[in-house]
Amino acid sequence: MSELDRFGGLSPDQLPSTMAQTKYIAISSQKGGVGKTTVTIIAASAFHHLGGIRTAVVDCDFPQQSIVDFRDKELSALQRELTHLQQDPEANGKRIEEIEAAIADAYPVIGCMVKDAAAQLQALDGQVDLVFVDTPGTMNAEGIVDLWARLDYIFIPVEPDKISVSSTISYIDTIQEIMQEHPGSRLKGIYPFWNKYIKSEKRTMYDRTEQYFADNDIRQLDARLEHSVNYRKDEMRSTMFPLKKQFLDLGVRSLIEEMSNVIFADAVPAGAEADAQ
Ligand SMILES: Nc1ncnc2c1ncn2[C@@H]1O[C@H](COP(=O)(O)OP(=O)(O)OP(=O)(O)O)[C@@H](O)[C@H]1O
Ligand SMILES: [Mg+2]
Repeated sequence: MSELDRFGGLSPDQLPSTMAQTKYIAISSQKGGVGKTTVTIIAASAFHHLGGIRTAVVDCDFPQQSIVDFRDKELSALQRELTHLQQDPEANGKRIEEIEAAIADAYPVIGCMVKDAAAQLQALDGQVDLVFVDTPGTMNAEGIVDLWARLDYIFIPVEPDKISVSSTISYIDTIQEIMQEHPGSRLKGIYPFWNKYIKSEKRTMYDRTEQYFADNDIRQLDARLEHSVNYRKDEMRSTMFPLKKQFLDLGVRSLIEEMSNVIFADAVPAGAEADAQ
């Protein structure tokens, strides 16, 4: 049974058994602070730990490189704790095993400059099934166009405010225009989704935006991540441990399921090969 199934709601049938090729994804936006890094970590962790899909993260949001930084700090803290526990004859053996497994299972986090990102993605081809790229918001970073051309899908977190919505619309237009002219672009889709969604808020803003996207042939994901103080917790941005069940309930489960349907639309569903024989 898949871990995703054990966490409920995510059917193992939606997870591919055979990867056609390495898929490249960016959770991207030109607006700062909308949740790009947060969602990149959550999605990478969910696919890797819960879905059993070989995942890597390339962090080219230089110079802040938050994911590289989170990973370095988390790994150092765990290594310190492990050393401490190994020297303590009364230490909890279960915790030692847990830390050793987390270190052994961690997905790679690779930091690089945008100008080197396309080559970095190329180097990962065939090494893993899924690569998440954390990109800078700026559209004029050297190499950004070659990076977009190397991506299969872009998902855009949109906050419920006018600035976030209008910046999303112009971001999608710009990328689509540039990619139409770009030889060899493999970009197949750009999907906005609500982040920091407030259930109690009036629907006007949401309805208008959703209608605008629909009228302009932009497919918005149905899944939305609720606004929650939980996102400030370290557990929500762990790059070493899977997300706990109570956090999956904040809209994360349906977001991962919908992303999986988009990303692996061409993959062979689990069980299909056996059925065919
Ligand atoms: N659904 C949410 N509910 C509440 N807070 C959230 C949510 N998603 C993200 N945040 C918070 O919003 C802040 C910005 O998130 P994050 O750093 O992921 O955004 P970003 O788009 O990567 O920002 P930057 O442009 O600086 O790279 C963080 O404090 C994060 O905890
Ligand atoms: Mg960020």
